[in-house]
Amino acid sequence: MELAKRRGFIWPSFEIYGGVAGFYDFGPLGALLKNKIIQKWREFYVVREGFFEIDSPSIVPEEVLKASGHVEHFVDAMVECQKCGAAFRVADLAREQAGKDIEGMTKEEMDRFVKGHKVRCPDCGGELGKIFDFNAMFRTAIGPGSQRVGYLRPETAQGIFIDFKRLQRHARGKLPFGVVQIGKGYRNEISPRQGIIRLREFTMAEAEVFFDPGDPHHPRFSELAGEQLRLWLAKDQEEGKEQLTEVTVEQAVKAKLVCNELMAYYLALTKRFLLDLGIPNEVIRFREQTPGQRAHYSSETWDAEVLTERFGWVEIAGLAYRTDYDLSRHAQFSGEDLTIFSADKKRKVLCHVVEPSYGIDRPLYCALEHAYVQEKKRKYFRLRKELAPIEVGIFPLLNRVGMPEKAQEVYGNLKLKGFMAEYDDAGSIGRRYARADEIGVPYCVTIDHETLKQNDVTIRHRDTTKQIRVDIEKLPDVLKKLLNDEIEFDKAGKPIETTSK
Ligand code: ATP
Ligand code: GLY
Repeated sequence: MELAKRRGFIWPSFEIYGGVAGFYDFGPLGALLKNKIIQKWREFYVVREGFFEIDSPSIVPEEVLKASGHVEHFVDAMVECQKCGAAFRVADLAREQAGKDIEGMTKEEMDRFVKGHKVRCPDCGGELGKIFDFNAMFRTAIGPGSQRVGYLRPETAQGIFIDFKRLQRHARGKLPFGVVQIGKGYRNEISPRQGIIRLREFTMAEAEVFFDPGDPHHPRFSELAGEQLRLWLAKDQEEGKEQLTEVTVEQAVKAKLVCNELMAYYLALTKRFLLDLGIPNEVIRFREQTPGQRAHYSSETWDAEVLTERFGWVEIAGLAYRTDYDLSRHAQFSGEDLTIFSADKKRKVLCHVVEPSYGIDRPLYCALEHAYVQEKKRKYFRLRKELAPIEVGIFPLLNRVGMPEKAQEVYGNLKLKGFMAEYDDAGSIGRRYARADEIGVPYCVTIDHETLKQNDVTIRHRDTTKQIRVDIEKLPDVLKKLLNDEIEFDKAGKPIETTSK
């Protein structure tokens, strides 16, 4: 976090005014990294799954969120300290102080629990007041005079459900079909104290997969049927067992551990996505939510979780079986018929929905944490090459005898060819390598005395610190192949012996 802040990945928002909890800015490197993660998500869901992407407003009129159940149900049970006035989610305090999951309890049961277990204010030890519901949506007024109540959207999903009629026409009646939306979600979190893990404004990437409830098959199920999943079943959690159930996607469906093929397929796709961010398999698990933990619209939810050093297990994505809850409610509240014909055209169906819902900020944090390497002399982010915000550093060895001019020429040419390159001529070459390592630059190019004689440069590899010599004309092509993993580093040029790191 210190490095991420110092080098421009993330920092608290509104800092010169003291900051506001739950808001973070992405700095120049963070914004690049975030865009790369979003791009990767698009590759998975829009390019490969073939889902349609839409972009709808993030201010939503109240009637939509009444229909979706958010006005009534998007609430957290909270409590205030009677001594210092700090506010907390009751479920968080119960977990931290009594090791119990009380989500799903009624307010009266929670009150009894808090008293019975002597749960206190974690800040000052003061006594807690009565438990009350708090709706986590930010409320606003649409237009002057507050005639119309609106909310900042707590999820992007509703924009998709509202457009269902137009979207299914766009899909030309084909089922299943998927629609995604990437954009900001807003939740007035009660006590956001975990950096970018719990924000009040964050980026979501959600997919709604519409299917005929009589036919929950994925056309390419076989491609992921053999993928191993580590499941933490709800029943094991309820019995206090930590054990994970390891099964293939196919076994999970056959043994009815997971509600249907589509859900199992998207659990596997989520795992693949996380692996592609450089998050190791051993720290990924899927936790089934217990009935008390599930959102009001879901009949089965799986949280994709990643183990982190700083925050323990963190939920990265929630995959919910939303049934026909949203479409039936919007049909009822709007008066529109939202049924469509089944594939055989013999039945009218109200589609069911499986929803993989990701945040982007949490996987970004996990990708950074798992990429962080601290060796004897160096600390750096071993970020996947395709995620690295800066792809190549360009350094003139000396700031004289024509080296800066040549280096600027190389830099300009690489930028023209679309590389995200950075020029650095400040300090010793060792310092410049260290600075580039720190932010995860996979390759650094140095222009030296030989360059001026024989028109070649060195490329240094971040992870091994090995160096090779490459002709300047071939540099863009070699770098492209290295970044795309199409060529091994040692074979990409003439290896050179070096003692400098
Ligand atoms: P949590 O239990 O941690 O509050 P949630 O169950 O409310 O999360 P979902 O409603 O399933 O989360 O939201 C989908 C995804 O959106 C999450 O998996 C997470 O990646 C992201 N997300 C949700 N709330 C936040 C937040 N406050 N800050 C950052 N990301 C969030
Ligand atoms: N769209 C999933 C959620 O907001 O929880």
